[in-house]
Amino acid sequence: MQVTVIGAGYVGLVQAAGLASLGHDIRLAEADPRRLAALRAGETPIFEEGLEGLLTAGLEAGSILLFSDNVAAANEAEVVFLCLPTPPGIDGAADITIVTKVIEQLANELGPGPVLAIKSTVPVGTAERLSRRFGARASLVSNPEFLREGTAVSDFLNPDRIVVGAKDPEQAKVVAGVYEGLRAPIVLTDPTSAELIKYGANSYLAARLTFVNALANVAETVGADIMDVVHGMGLDSRIGPHFLKPGPGYGGSCFPKDTIALLATSRQAGYEFSLLQTVVDSDRNQRHWIVGNVRRMLNGDVGGKRIAMWGIAFKAGTDDIRESPALKIAHVLIGEGAVVAAYDPEAIGPEVEQCPDPITSAEGADLLLVATEWPLFREVDMVEVARVMRGDLVYDLRNLLDPQTVRSAGLRYVALGRPNI
Ligand code: UGA
Repeated sequence: MQVTVIGAGYVGLVQAAGLASLGHDIRLAEADPRRLAALRAGETPIFEEGLEGLLTAGLEAGSILLFSDNVAAANEAEVVFLCLPTPPGIDGAADITIVTKVIEQLANELGPGPVLAIKSTVPVGTAERLSRRFGARASLVSNPEFLREGTAVSDFLNPDRIVVGAKDPEQAKVVAGVYEGLRAPIVLTDPTSAELIKYGANSYLAARLTFVNALANVAETVGADIMDVVHGMGLDSRIGPHFLKPGPGYGGSCFPKDTIALLATSRQAGYEFSLLQTVVDSDRNQRHWIVGNVRRMLNGDVGGKRIAMWGIAFKAGTDDIRESPALKIAHVLIGEGAVVAAYDPEAIGPEVEQCPDPITSAEGADLLLVATEWPLFREVDMVEVARVMRGDLVYDLRNLLDPQTVRSAGLRYVALGRPNI
């Protein structure tokens, strides 16, 4: 099929490369001249496992063509995927200015020809509202994305489900047809429900892990082991084992923004979603709880202390530091007079002292915080860490290290949600 993707950001690039690999002819439009030039020069502007290979293959085979102009890219397309930024507005709801502008442009220039599928996360009710506004001039369908950073290409190729929200069954069929070749259930629904599926899934997952984090804090205080607790819980088939890892709270570009946006939507609709508000507050408290523990471990005052931080990305497998819990913790500790010496294999962050390797970051440290679950931290020689540190405390916020290995290096090991403080 002739398919256009507008926006070569994280979602658009994966969408374009993935659809090209399914055999479609893709026209990819990007408004930022620098990003477009990079793509034309054969560079992949973001790091995502497997993306470079698919993208390069598509560009070299001519199954992905690049455009600076949306209309030129879209004029022969059956489906146009809108993969445009929707940053949080003042009230927390996603700002759809850019999406609206592009739809306006396509409606004016091309009329109702191609089906316009909104992939960006937009406030619930957006497709309906825009359909009323543009009337017969635009055919709007909601087709939310469920890609995780770091595994986006594999998520695209092996989706749990594909959601298509459309008023017109013919338009729904066209969009669903693009994904033929992927073995996944297709959820056909109305646009508003499709948009709510996206917010519902992200907010539910955020709630689930916030619950686990709170339970980890209880485990810590009553002397239980959260890793055994979640294992035992996850074996219940109604609960399942995924998304039960305790940690310093959720980060990234999606959960923090989507939970707030769903709260804003609910409020506007006249419903106070107090459970979700508690999730947001409780997630914030998770960092306070951790900082409180760090303070206690350092005898009540972090001022003048040196803290090694392993990992600053919001999760492993990405260089993304947006809403990173590690950096939020570092910010508070630095505000209280500590020095934070950080090492991350991919990410670079503000405020912290950036170190070239884990051992350098541990040099002279009073306490070592494991903040992101990079597997390589398990391989670090803990005897060497013990030798270079000033203190002997290791606080593992991801339950990543092997307690025995750390303890036998002569260090005191404290793990989130385990009976040890
Ligand atoms: C999330 C969703 O998982 C995707 O389905 C969705 O498409 C995406 O948001 C989006 O809306 O675009 P992502 O933000 O990349 O994807 O990250 P996740 O892997 O879901 O992790 C989110 C946060 O939860 C991270 O801070 C992670 O460290 C934390 N987490 C996750 C835990 O603390 N424990 C877990 O067991 C799982």
